[in-house]
Amino acid sequence: MRVLVTAGPTREALDPVRYLTNRSSGKMGYAMAAAFAEAGHRVLLISGPTQLDVPDGVDFLPIETAQEMYEAVQRHIGRMDAAVFAAAVADYRAATVSEQKIKKAGEILTLELVKTPDTLGSVRGEFGFTGTLVGFAAETQNLEVNAREKLKRKGCDLVIANDVSKPGIGFDSDRNEVLMVFPEHTEALPEDEKHHLAPRLVREIETIAAARQS
Ligand code: CTP
Ligand code: CA
Repeated sequence: MRVLVTAGPTREALDPVRYLTNRSSGKMGYAMAAAFAEAGHRVLLISGPTQLDVPDGVDFLPIETAQEMYEAVQRHIGRMDAAVFAAAVADYRAATVSEQKIKKAGEILTLELVKTPDTLGSVRGEFGFTGTLVGFAAETQNLEVNAREKLKRKGCDLVIANDVSKPGIGFDSDRNEVLMVFPEHTEALPEDEKHHLAPRLVREIETIAAARQS
């Protein structure tokens, strides 16, 4: 398969020296990209800034902002068989990016933020993608309910959900514990190394893709 993977955080500038971002390390997305490549698939990894090395045999397209991620996916999604959205995208960016460094002034600073485009949410409708579509959901409460709502709203075949309020897993950790939320059922996987979970998830996505084609 040709597989697109998004990973890492995005970075939204406030001024020349500051930005909004989130806690994503990119580890889960990079582990997915590596596992797809190891399974013999052709992978395009579209990633925000991380500390990680690009996995062997993976095509790499670095981006910084949510808007850049949206445009990169829009450009490449058409020739993909499957797409996996592991990026932690900033939902809001500064309404105007200050050209000069914002100087410290009063006790309270109010920022005006505007919504960024929802890339995964644009894939089925706007981009007309008919391949296998997988999202991630990092939640702090109501894990399964929230993940299932995202599965439906974004037209996914699978949402891989993890509870980021649990200590020792998820953000920045080498370990994760996920729920696989499918349209008709949910399956929990035991806590494991991201590098062990990824090939397991790849096999699941291969099965979905094979079923979609038949
Ligand atoms: N996603 C995306 N573009 C965005 C926001 C999210 O592609 N602008 C993708 C993520 O990569 C993930 C999925 O959508 O695969 C769910 O992300 P999440 O942040 O949990 O969903 P939101 O729709 O942004 O909902 P909220 O943050 O309010 O929970
Ligand atoms: Ca979000």
